[in-house]
Amino acid sequence: MNRETSRDLYDRALDVLVGGVNSAVRAAPQPYPTFVRTGDGGHVVDADGNRYVDWVMGLGPLLLGHDLPDAVEAGVQRRTSEGPMYGLPTELEIEHAEFLARHVPSVEMVRYVNSGTEATTSAVRLARGHTGRDKIVVMQSGYHGAQESTLVEGDSEDHGPSSAGIPAAFAEHTIPVPFNDTDAVTEVFEAHGDDIACVLVEPILANKGIVAPVDGYHETLRDLTRDHGALLVWDEVITGFRVGGLGCAQSKYGITPDLTTFGKVIGGGYPVGAIGGRTDLMEEFTPVGDVFQAGTFSGHPVTMAAGLETLEYAAENDVYEHVNDLGRQLRGGLQAVVAAVADDLYRAAVAGNRRLPWLLVDEAHACATGVAADAIETLYTRGRAPGASVVLATQRPSALPEVAVSQSDLLVAHRLTAGKDVDALAATRPTYLAESLAERLPARTGDALVVDDATETVCSVRVRERRTEHHGGERVVDHGETTA
Ligand SMILES: Cc1ncc(COP(=O)(O)O)c(C=O)c1O
Repeated sequence: MNRETSRDLYDRALDVLVGGVNSAVRAAPQPYPTFVRTGDGGHVVDADGNRYVDWVMGLGPLLLGHDLPDAVEAGVQRRTSEGPMYGLPTELEIEHAEFLARHVPSVEMVRYVNSGTEATTSAVRLARGHTGRDKIVVMQSGYHGAQESTLVEGDSEDHGPSSAGIPAAFAEHTIPVPFNDTDAVTEVFEAHGDDIACVLVEPILANKGIVAPVDGYHETLRDLTRDHGALLVWDEVITGFRVGGLGCAQSKYGITPDLTTFGKVIGGGYPVGAIGGRTDLMEEFTPVGDVFQAGTFSGHPVTMAAGLETLEYAAENDVYEHVNDLGRQLRGGLQAVVAAVADDLYRAAVAGNRRLPWLLVDEAHACATGVAADAIETLYTRGRAPGASVVLATQRPSALPEVAVSQSDLLVAHRLTAGKDVDALAATRPTYLAESLAERLPARTGDALVVDDATETVCSVRVRERRTEHHGGERVVDHGETTA
């Protein structure tokens, strides 16, 4: 496949865009990302004219794919032709908010912003303003955007900023707990209940693969927050108007959060975020209340038009049934492939750091699929890699173990191993993994996990890496091994 133009564009981009991209995750897959020329239904065409099935779908917003239905297209065109924006209110914002309030159980009022990050930032501010408390509880491995209060890693006892540039004082007030662990969050409320402003949680953890809630977990969070006078904030930036259809994940799980954050789908492909909730809480935002909130582009008319037309299209057509059916087909197909090869032995290696563990599944070598599943369980459930998302990498993408992974991860993963000599990879595996991590995640430091071939247990590899210079400079990579 010819990808010369993407490579050339990346070279150009590296001179003027930090890391060649405008969102850190877009730098993958390396050695150079695919530059897109156009979308086409369920496909994208890259700058060289190659056509791909689009597993990314804008990272969530494109509920209807790239070819918008006529009504959505017309709504966007009409609004664009009427002048881009005004900095004054429009009827469209009311209509969009009425739609949200009509369909989402917990939403009475809405405040629009321009991204999911802005939505979670404002929701946390509102919770703090409402309660007069500073602490918030978040889930290890959850993601709520690039904001100071949630870029935190560690556990309830020992946590700190997960990014340079975030004051320790911010992280001090954010308590990470393992998702699905009712005892852990109960203990945190017993210790700090009077200081906690809110629990901020994704209904389904969606940024480290897909982790569904265990029965009773969200009910526990609901009870704890209510009993301690804290707010329950559901981050439905990903699940909103996708999981659970028009009622969102909260209708699927039967939980009524105090506040909900939205993004992605509700903008129909244009930049958006929103906070929704009960009137008494929402009216604590300015100009009614004292919690400052404002934005030049908030409620942008083109976004509101695209979002409203998209949601109305979904309400009038069987969009969710169709999309869910496609998802079922994909999962079923993958599971069938896995079932067919499950008796074979696989060598699996799990590696990564706190932010991005990698799971390499090497079909040419030995290790039961179950080991891979165990390793994932270790990553997810026992909290060995807080802040983690898991990437599956394999020589043959169809040979995946029966676990849920996000489709964009697969794309990244496939590139990691493509073209590598698997024998050499296996022989030098821990070093290779450490090196590939260091190469691909230059700013990261942390623990990696690998499956020990002899004992089939998971051990940890420490990957320490730092850059001496940013641009073209020598890179110092320091990786040793420790077993856990
Ligand atoms: C659950 C969740 N919350 C918040 C965000 C941040 O949204 P944005 O990238 O629009 O700022 C994301 C982004 O993927 C997300 O997945």
